[in-house]
Amino acid sequence: MKNLIEINDFSVEELKDVVKVGCDISENPGEYMDRMKGKVMATLFFEPSTRTKFSFEAAMNRLGGKLISLSEVKNSSVSKGESLKDTVKTVGCYSDIIVMRHPHEGAAKFVSEVLDVPLINAGDGGHEHPTQTLTDLLTIYIEKGRLDNLDIALVGDIKHGRTVHSLVKALSKFENNRFYFASPKHLGLPNYLKNSLDPETLFFEPDLEKVLPKVDVVYMTRIQRERFDDINYYNEIKDDYILDEEKMTFAKEDAIIMHPLPRVNEITVGVDKDPRAKYFKQVKNGMYVRMALILKLMNELDLNVVEDKGDIKYSKCINPKCITNFETVEQVEFNQSCPYNDNYHCKYCSQTIGKE
Ligand code: NCD
Repeated sequence: MKNLIEINDFSVEELKDVVKVGCDISENPGEYMDRMKGKVMATLFFEPSTRTKFSFEAAMNRLGGKLISLSEVKNSSVSKGESLKDTVKTVGCYSDIIVMRHPHEGAAKFVSEVLDVPLINAGDGGHEHPTQTLTDLLTIYIEKGRLDNLDIALVGDIKHGRTVHSLVKALSKFENNRFYFASPKHLGLPNYLKNSLDPETLFFEPDLEKVLPKVDVVYMTRIQRERFDDINYYNEIKDDYILDEEKMTFAKEDAIIMHPLPRVNEITVGVDKDPRAKYFKQVKNGMYVRMALILKLMNELDLNVVEDKGDIKYSKCINPKCITNFETVEQVEFNQSCPYNDNYHCKYCSQTIGKE
């Protein structure tokens, strides 16, 4: 059975396939109308969402399927003390595919262990958001005609921005892409991610005006207030990166401006009328690519997924936000999956530890 929990669950070929099918759906939506007839999708959102939840629900509706959904934890048995695994396993008895968003890192991987229907991670804390990445890839492909040979700026809260984590992982699988990170001092790329990428493709340049003339894609992000331990630091840096009409004069003529949304103030409304602004097109692309994803996961139920076998085990992960610190887990495996160093990663939240 195939899930989409981390973007690395898909090979480059699979990413290309989903993007291509998403592209076809965007051009011929009528042809896909009945493909999920008789199937039920469950959406379980333990964290706020507008776009992702609606986009999955619209996608399933447009494929002719049906939906059951939970949007408020207080309405579920989790509020009676039920474990997350039991809640999700129960939902799996009613549905053919599940979409889940949860505030804890590694939560999707954790519940997938008890499910026998495909699971889609719609965001696990500050860890990953692979379906936003499919949205972003489809947008880049439509707008730039390629997913390789790109210079990409990632701006804002790179530490907590799960969309950035999944996007950088995905784009690093394609040839000759380079990444420019512009972020406040303490909101840079998490070490686990930095250590898993080719260092020659990474550039850290906090001055946005220096980055803009170099890049084909500008990926703006919101400072993720809800994930800060120190709210004073949030207030100090929250307005550090604002893309306005004046800054846009530094960007290339054929650059594209992206944002996973919601925006707070990091792109001024004046930029919306610039033809390079693509963030609302991104929203629509998200629905098409999620239609493609649903089809892929539902049609390939017998695909074998090879799991990494780790050889370092702990009872809890050292990341305090990891799901293993909130739910019962027998052992946490740390797998070695990175070609650039000897580090091991928590199989749920990707926290790194050095080799013992
Ligand atoms: C993002 C998320 O939830 O991570 N939103 C989305 O899904 N489009 C970005 C954000 O909340 O800043």
